[in-house]
Amino acid sequence: MHAYANTTALVTGASKGLGEAYARELARRGANLILVARSADVLRDLAGQIQAAHHVRVDVIAADLSDRHSPQAVADEIKRLGLDVDLLVNNAGLGSVGPFLTRPLEPNLQSVDVNITALVGLTHLLVADMLQRGQGGVINVASSAAFQPMPYQASYAATKAFVLSFTEALAEELRGTGLRVMAAHPGATDTGFFSRTTASMDPKADTPESVAANTLDDFARGRSASYPGRAFNRAGTWASRLLPRTTVARITGGLNRKAGFQDVSDLDPATS
Ligand SMILES: NC(=O)c1ccc[n+]([C@@H]2O[C@H](COP(=O)([O-])OP(=O)(O)OC[C@H]3O[C@@H](n4cnc5c(N)ncnc54)[C@H](OP(=O)(O)O)[C@@H]3O)[C@@H](O)[C@H]2O)c1
Repeated sequence: MHAYANTTALVTGASKGLGEAYARELARRGANLILVARSADVLRDLAGQIQAAHHVRVDVIAADLSDRHSPQAVADEIKRLGLDVDLLVNNAGLGSVGPFLTRPLEPNLQSVDVNITALVGLTHLLVADMLQRGQGGVINVASSAAFQPMPYQASYAATKAFVLSFTEALAEELRGTGLRVMAAHPGATDTGFFSRTTASMDPKADTPESVAANTLDDFARGRSASYPGRAFNRAGTWASRLLPRTTVARITGGLNRKAGFQDVSDLDPATS
């Protein structure tokens, strides 16, 4: 089993949802943490809670990962703090939901910036250091959405397909180096992912705590992919590998229409 104790893990998107669960679970397993997200106050509060509960060091780096310069700024701050990252958990992510052409453009572009550009930037900068040290690892949080086109979540699923392909290729490039790269593919997980919109989460969603623990167990076991949610999620990825892609798009479009995603609108920020 990979030992997390006394390592340093950087978790992006650690202020809530799955990222917060990864941070808490890593600390429970003895890892020191670097928490990254935009909400500095929330991160500082979480760092205080974790340090009170576990004997680990927790540093906070506030960064807007939709800014193209942010991965370099994060890497510079890590150097300034005198830290080495042993495990990079690229978890920060967002996605637009609803019909592509009638929903605002900006969240679509932000999801490309955060889910793809920042993930590539942080991986390039931090894994280069790991390679010099001959050890380290990366967990890229993709999604069960990575395996097929998803009408009404079109750009989101496409960003996750990028993460899947990128992670698999990098894992092969790094084979034999002592470094490991794993993609995690949660299905519906009970977080605030859809907050600010009228879309609602699948009532059968997994808890972020169970998804985080299963992901870390899978990485510790040396897996190259993790399906940390209920078994149904993984079975869905098989169907999409066997059927023609147009058929799959029709099925996923039908499922997302059933979930009401073709009629999604934004909630008033004052009430969400
Ligand atoms: N929930 C699901 O059903 C589900 C399923 C499969 C995969 N996932 C993936 O799991 C990951 C976590 O999602 P979640 O469900 O936990 O969502 P969430 O509750 O909305 O949390 C998203 C996290 O990303 C951070 N973030 C968003 N934009 C950012 C930016 N511009 N710069 C820095 N950080 C930013 C947020 O922090 P700030 O707002 O403080 O910046 C927050 O910590 C995502 O990659 C998502 O695609 C989720």
